[in-house]
Amino acid sequence: MTDISKQDRVLIFDTTLRDGEQSPGATMTHAEKLEIASLLDEMGVDIIEAGFPIASEGDFKAVSEIAMNSKNSVICGLARASFADIDRCMEAVKHAAQPRIHTFIGTSPLHRAIPNLTMDEMAERIHETVTHARNLCDNVQWSPMDATRTEEDYLCRVVEIAIKAGATTINIPDTVGYTAPRESAALIRMLLERVPGADEIIFATHCHNDLGMATANSLAAVEAGARQIECTINGLGERAGNTALEEVVMALKVRNDIMPYQTGIDTTKIMNISRRVAAVSGFAVQFNKAIVGKNAFAHESGIHQDGMLKNAETFEIMRPQDVGLAGTSLPLGKHSGRAALRAKLGDLGFELADNQLKDVFVRFKELADRKKEVYDDDLIALMRVGEDPENDRIQVKRLRVVCGTEGPQTAALTLMIDGVGSATEATGDGPVDAAFNAVKALFPHNARLQLYQVHAVTEGTDAQATVSVRMEEDGRIVTGQSADTDTVVASVRAYVHALNRLLVRREKSAPGEDRREVSYTDPS
Ligand code: KIV
Ligand code: ZN
Repeated sequence: MTDISKQDRVLIFDTTLRDGEQSPGATMTHAEKLEIASLLDEMGVDIIEAGFPIASEGDFKAVSEIAMNSKNSVICGLARASFADIDRCMEAVKHAAQPRIHTFIGTSPLHRAIPNLTMDEMAERIHETVTHARNLCDNVQWSPMDATRTEEDYLCRVVEIAIKAGATTINIPDTVGYTAPRESAALIRMLLERVPGADEIIFATHCHNDLGMATANSLAAVEAGARQIECTINGLGERAGNTALEEVVMALKVRNDIMPYQTGIDTTKIMNISRRVAAVSGFAVQFNKAIVGKNAFAHESGIHQDGMLKNAETFEIMRPQDVGLAGTSLPLGKHSGRAALRAKLGDLGFELADNQLKDVFVRFKELADRKKEVYDDDLIALMRVGEDPENDRIQVKRLRVVCGTEGPQTAALTLMIDGVGSATEATGDGPVDAAFNAVKALFPHNARLQLYQVHAVTEGTDAQATVSVRMEEDGRIVTGQSADTDTVVASVRAYVHALNRLLVRREKSAPGEDRREVSYTDPS
């Protein structure tokens, strides 16, 4: 194991269960909080902010129980600058092997106005409350809320007071997400230079994402000397959220060449906890979110997929396995090329010659134009579809159906029969029956429909339906299949596919020839 010196080690402080849970609508149940805390502990989070014990009985119970169950992480509770808050917080975190009290007060002019305290009165409050917390607990964190909009001289003054009163960590919050990376770094540097005793404690950075700069601001603070990053899973948090744990941790890992700092996080646990937090908070992760978004390791364009198949590093700066994913995803869509299609079909067990691939590729592109994403099952359906429709004697040219609660359902169909187009309109008991009646009207036959089966082979409302039909005429048995996002279209094509086979069979076999075979393969 590498010996990580204190200078290079950055502590990860996760506040998903406190700041994250404060996001409107993200409330978690007691059991969910315990589950997330245990996942955070397992993944190597140094400090878990488990809640705000005085806020409610539920928060108190959650923080207490998380504290009891914690294995490796420090368990922290939040408290305002009041003795009652701090006492309640200690009551909850005391069960942890490593408890921490985190107390805070807003120090900017806007925030000082709320309790209507003068600068001196607030300084005195900070001295009293931090001293009180430190008398209860060896591990005390203090935060000047809205630090980035607090006058620098006053900030230095109150930080010094908190350090002298016994705070072991000083957190510098960008409460409103107003700061920029250069300022974030300058602020930490300024505090380290000007505040007596600053080198004895740990500076933390706590950034909100109102301008989309939270992760950049946190990393800039680290480069300036902060050694604790406060963050949440998926960037959950008030308004635009907080610095995302997965982003800072992976940035430090992937760009260790320019940011030589280590965390204790097992990054392979990232994807699992991200999914659990999304599920329990009800805050779905946006598809293109860094690291944990559905598309973060997905490549769709032909050029990208081709590059990925040759060398993953062409378009990936980290391995999906590093964050706990099984592998890269090459979703097939309208931008995919032949190389990706061949590779995917090969994985599915279809080895194709070049000319076969050419044909399948045309059908694949037609499908991809209609569907957002083409799944494995779509491809299987595609591979099973009619052999060479161009040579079919009967071809479906156009179909329009009217269906709904008010019958009769009607189908307007145009078929090309031996190169000649003919059209009709028919009604029926439902759109499929109407469409089949139209086929019969245009191409009269005595074949009996023995089986009609619809199978939605993919999920979602844009799923492909595979339709199979079986028909019998004078003992000849034929089947037809088709797949389409429109079930009625798939049904008519499958029916017509079976009729085409019947025409071929009529030429090749005498009536009744199939009977023995059928009773053998299908005793029903
Ligand atoms: O954003 C903030 O200032 C906070 C404090 C309580 C640290 O969350
Ligand atoms: Zn916050």
